[in-house]
Amino acid sequence: MGSATFTRRRFLQSGAAALGLATLEATPALGRAAEPSGRPARAAGTFLLGGDLPVRRMGFGAMRVTGPGIWGDPPDPAEARKLLRRAVDLGVNLMDTADAYGPEVSERLIWEALHPYPKDLVIATKGGLTRPTRERWDHDARPEHLRQACEASLRRLRLERIDLYQLHAPDPKVPLADSMGELGRLQREGKIRHVGVSNVSVDELRLARSIVKVVSVQNRYNIGDRRSEDVLGVCAADGIAFLPWAPLAGREREAKRSGSVEVLGQLARQRGITETQAALAWLLARSPVILPIPGTSSIAHLEENVAAAALRLTPEELKRIG
Ligand SMILES: NC(=O)c1ccc[n+]([C@@H]2O[C@H](COP(=O)([O-])OP(=O)(O)OC[C@H]3O[C@@H](n4cnc5c(N)ncnc54)[C@H](OP(=O)(O)O)[C@@H]3O)[C@@H](O)[C@H]2O)c1
Repeated sequence: MGSATFTRRRFLQSGAAALGLATLEATPALGRAAEPSGRPARAAGTFLLGGDLPVRRMGFGAMRVTGPGIWGDPPDPAEARKLLRRAVDLGVNLMDTADAYGPEVSERLIWEALHPYPKDLVIATKGGLTRPTRERWDHDARPEHLRQACEASLRRLRLERIDLYQLHAPDPKVPLADSMGELGRLQREGKIRHVGVSNVSVDELRLARSIVKVVSVQNRYNIGDRRSEDVLGVCAADGIAFLPWAPLAGREREAKRSGSVEVLGQLARQRGITETQAALAWLLARSPVILPIPGTSSIAHLEENVAAAALRLTPEELKRIG
């Protein structure tokens, strides 16, 4: 997907339409491999991350391969490794993780399951949150911590360079410019290929981009929670990847009022697909810069989710969803 075709002017001119509705076409087939190679994730198309790293738009979130509460080992580590390998077999080549998942467990399982990595696999990890206990997700985006965290992720993942390193969240106690400055230094040293941010506002994104080239944003976004619509707008206008976290949640907030969730459910029933698949199809249609990273601990759910890459909602259906 050539992100360069998505200019700010076009976005401003056509508003929500520029979020990608023009790319839609009706595709009735779902749940079977989108092409003979049996890699259904390919059907979602590709996005050029940072202008030089092609990733399929249907990614995988590896947060839930850990134990309950995103803490410790999963109940069946062998099954978790099988799940990660299955994601790659299905054609997924964007895998999102973080040092805080487990902590360390998600990254370690990725290494155990997938190393030596397929050439086209992009592992996107994060630093900036710590887990002193199961209940706590503490901010720490001090430059010295980010450096330490990035170097630990490099060692854990057995990588010489991390393709996409994301600031997990701005730290209220640390100037964002300091955190981004350190990521820039790590990038210049060759430890990071591309820099991303997560859980940012439009202003924070602007500030971050004044310090370092930001190629992706990861914010909570789904059919029911569109609070980051403004951030998505900036990403769409400027060709920055937008990785919506909690893509399958979405039964709250304005969607309830507008009925979007209800309409999506009706469409899913009419099409004979699951609501989860409909939610992912909606995200893929919402903007060509959206790269969903649905998370699961179940191989059956993974297969169901990736199959949604072949789904196309029609412009009429999208209008009905609102
Ligand atoms: N940057 C951040 O601050 C941040 C925060 C949260 C998450 N993330 C990232 O975003 C990814 C996705 O977010 P998420 O995992 O919180 O939410 P999600 O992908 O919206 O939903 C995951 C939940 O949905 C269930 N599920 C998945 N597929 C299903 C299916 N086909 N049918 C029924 N249930 C299904 C999963 O349970 P089962 O395990 O039973 O399938 C799990 O409980 C994470 O893995 C992580 O990489 C980032």
